Amino acid sequence: MAKIFYITTPLYYVNASPHIGHSYTTVAADCLARYHRLKGESVFFLTGTDEHGQKIEQAAAASGKTPSVFVDEVVERFASLWKLLSISHDDFVRTTQPRHTQVVQVCLTKLRQEGKLQQASYEGWYCTPCETFWTDEELKLKPGTTVTCGNCGRGVERVKEDGWYLPLRQHQDWLRGFLASHPTFIQPQTRYNEIASLLEQPLPECLCITRPRNRVAWGISVPFSPQHVTYVWFDALLNYVSVPGYLTDGTRFESLWPADAQFIGKDILRHHAVYWPIILHALGLSDEQMPRTIFAHGWWKIGEQKISKSRGNIVDPTVVVKEFLKDQPYAADVYRYFLLREVPFGQDGSFSEDAIAKRLSTDLANDLGNLVHRTLSMIERYSDGRLPQAGPVGCAVEDVPLRDEAMGLAKQLDERLPALDFSGALKAVCHLITHANRYIESTAPWQLATEKDSARLHTVLAMLAEVIRIAAITLSPFMPSVAEAMWEQLGLQNVPRRWLDAAQWPTLTAGQPLGTRSVLFPKVSS
Ligand code: MSP
Repeated sequence: MAKIFYITTPLYYVNASPHIGHSYTTVAADCLARYHRLKGESVFFLTGTDEHGQKIEQAAAASGKTPSVFVDEVVERFASLWKLLSISHDDFVRTTQPRHTQVVQVCLTKLRQEGKLQQASYEGWYCTPCETFWTDEELKLKPGTTVTCGNCGRGVERVKEDGWYLPLRQHQDWLRGFLASHPTFIQPQTRYNEIASLLEQPLPECLCITRPRNRVAWGISVPFSPQHVTYVWFDALLNYVSVPGYLTDGTRFESLWPADAQFIGKDILRHHAVYWPIILHALGLSDEQMPRTIFAHGWWKIGEQKISKSRGNIVDPTVVVKEFLKDQPYAADVYRYFLLREVPFGQDGSFSEDAIAKRLSTDLANDLGNLVHRTLSMIERYSDGRLPQAGPVGCAVEDVPLRDEAMGLAKQLDERLPALDFSGALKAVCHLITHANRYIESTAPWQLATEKDSARLHTVLAMLAEVIRIAAITLSPFMPSVAEAMWEQLGLQNVPRRWLDAAQWPTLTAGQPLGTRSVLFPKVSS
């Protein structure tokens, strides 16, 4: 069976409602999934929720609910946000589902039977918000200073727990070698360098993979140790293989695994770039069975502060879409566009409503919306609402560069999207749109109409219609509803949108009536 392109997001904690950070990872993954589907490839896009652990147990207790009732409620908020944002995942896994918990238990038993786990007592630090253990060495303790989490900087708790351990250090040389021979395993380069330099120092001897049930009851039971539940990260990371059928469905697993693109944020890099490959290696997976790429994006911040629930500076995507952008018929797409265009993927970004409003009014309303509106109005007026017949291209100097840029756009995106350069890809689309708007100014179709030069007028309008067609295809992964609307306005509702057609010119059939028109990005009165 041919390999299916497999894309994952992290599983989000359901201790609270989703925020901009969660939506960022998911929208980026969705964009890549849509791009590969448009290219005609089979894609499996997995997202879901991380439902066990101390943090969720505490959140449930604080709301006076059992963990199970609590997570059932919060998970709905994630599901409905993904619907609102047109997320096209193929599956949604919850770590409380038996299809997942059973695989986690089988993995634990396998590791235990193969003698790969150790039983010991652990003393160190624990950060509940990050659900992460820290050793004294990792935190580089200085006398007289408060001990804080090496990741989020919040307070940590001293813990002493008996449990089961997975050796880390004994896999360190292997991981260092694997990284050296797989330079694109961790992206972007800054994150690769971060992990490569982390691996220059000795890793902690072991990773604790259980928690005592009397401290944390909300977790997957450890089959051979009734007084323990599974440590939440060991549990959650395994979703990436449990859903594809690891140890339960060999054929399905072969068709999906290894994952082609695993999207994460930089705060969970160590878990994914160190613990995750070591878990897979300990389970006996080969170098060829390691994930192809783990990409860690940056943070959305307000000022210098990371946006997070604990800092109380949450940006709720539903509020942005349904309230701030309430006048926009394609509000979710405006939000998606903003996330992917504003900041190069991998870097931190600064969030503000002003920044969204600016992108909306410049790139979307003034440039894209205007191009579509002006072109289709002129086709209505000067070509009876039907796609015009183009004369030979090349008779005017301005035709060739526009046609060449439009036809070359998909190729540019074929370089940028697999490299997860979403903002670079959108910049290239915007460049074409600006070019087309300039072309309208320089060819002045209204002048051609006055001069009754209908051959040239129709060529110009046909050129512009082709540009809009190509923009609709290439924008589809980013703004699926806007792309659909552009497509329908061109009268193409019965034609499938395929990536390969973006490199063809011309493809539109002269005489074909336009569809119903509407304004894509209404101007907001300030
Ligand atoms: N449950 C773990 C992941 C387990 S994966 C096997 C977890 N969940 S999380 O809900 O806390 O965060 C999930 C994702 O949201 C991470 O990729 C994280 O980087 C991202 N974001 C959370 N806040 C963010 C910002 N302010 N900005 C961008 N993304 C950030 O970690």
